Amino acid sequence: MKILVVGSGGREHALAWKLAQSNRIQMVLVAPGNGGTALDPRLQNLDITDPEQLADYAHKEQIALTVVGPEAPLAAGIVDIFRERGLKIFGPTRRAAQLESSKDFAKAFMERHGIPTARYQTFSDAAAAHSYIDEQGAPIVVKADGLAAGKGVVVAMTLEEAHGAIDMMLSDNRFGDAGARVVVEEFLDGEEASFIVMVDGKNILPLATSQDHKRLMDHDQGPNTGGMGAYSPAPIVTPQLHARVMREIIQPTIQGMAKDGIPYTGFLYAGLMIDAEGNPKTLEFNCRMGDPETQPIMARLKTDLVSVMEHAVNNTMNEIELEWDRRTALGVVMAAGGYPDDPKKGAVITGIPAENEDSMTFHAGSVLEQDELKVSGGRVLCVVGLGDSVRVAQKHAYDAVDQISFDGMQFRRDIGWRALKR
Ligand code: AMP
Ligand code: GLY
Repeated sequence: MKILVVGSGGREHALAWKLAQSNRIQMVLVAPGNGGTALDPRLQNLDITDPEQLADYAHKEQIALTVVGPEAPLAAGIVDIFRERGLKIFGPTRRAAQLESSKDFAKAFMERHGIPTARYQTFSDAAAAHSYIDEQGAPIVVKADGLAAGKGVVVAMTLEEAHGAIDMMLSDNRFGDAGARVVVEEFLDGEEASFIVMVDGKNILPLATSQDHKRLMDHDQGPNTGGMGAYSPAPIVTPQLHARVMREIIQPTIQGMAKDGIPYTGFLYAGLMIDAEGNPKTLEFNCRMGDPETQPIMARLKTDLVSVMEHAVNNTMNEIELEWDRRTALGVVMAAGGYPDDPKKGAVITGIPAENEDSMTFHAGSVLEQDELKVSGGRVLCVVGLGDSVRVAQKHAYDAVDQISFDGMQFRRDIGWRALKR
């Protein structure tokens, strides 16, 4: 059978890599893909991004099912378009994707269904937002309502920063429509974890736990990024906490969406903040898998992902269980010079070691040009190491990272530090 993966990042490379391991697969197409998916003989890039044209292609080429990686096509309604044409696709509908595409929708939903999250108010009027911030005091968090490619959140430690964020979003319209409304919310302190599940409309299948590293530099310094590394499992998510998150956050979310007439299908990613007493709150929902969390998670998945996806699109996920490699997987992101503000493109990438038992490299911002791999985006590679402990997984990842080179490359040396500290 042929399967289509929509997207071009490390997440999509990892999903396609895992799907292609199934012996039932004839071809995995990745649209549009990247340099890594171009190099893998079991994968084929497809230069189409328009959802209607992708549906035409899926119909014509008899694609058995489609898996969507990023949020933008989901928010644009790719799942609705495919389903209207009778094509199997795994992801949320446009309306369900509002859990990610509108922070105001997500906050109002959580409030309505009693799902633990930070206190908040939504504003489109700058003066009202400024006076609310003065009332509440700092630290405080300002978020653009819409999708802003990970740049729409300002965690303001001072009132000045918070007022500046309101000016930027509501007065200067720096994010256009996405910032025409802002959510101002309570600052939550604690440790973050990524909690990702698959949902077929009714049944919920949790994936292995993971933790991301958002800041650019070691010791969590520097600007926020899309993620500089991740590992799985995340030891902060104990079995007790796992059960609580399922009971207090995930199940009420899926039931609440069904009750509101917007049944949820697809990956659902709850970004959690866990306080010092171990209480989880929801920072945000993403209606997709995390990047780079997907890379270590897929490196640990032992179950055939094709069969998992078939159950997911046929609403029979209650019939399967997922089996995981017991080892830790740890992924280090190698980013372009200038990332995240102004990534420099064009550098030649050399030295990527062949995949082996202990490590593999997933591509994101890379392109293959006349047999040469070149940097084409901010996060270029995610190098994953596997090992019986976090330390061994980390060593395997960095042994591979140290063989790779491109001009301007940036990466953290401390991925996994929270797990090592435990
Ligand atoms: P979001 O896109 O909403 O997850 O926000 C991006 C990042 O900002 C999160 O991963 C957190 O590190 C931080 N953040 C978001 N909301 C809060 C909050 N209420 N309190 C503290 N940090 C937050
Ligand atoms: N790693 C964070 C995200 O995918 O949103």
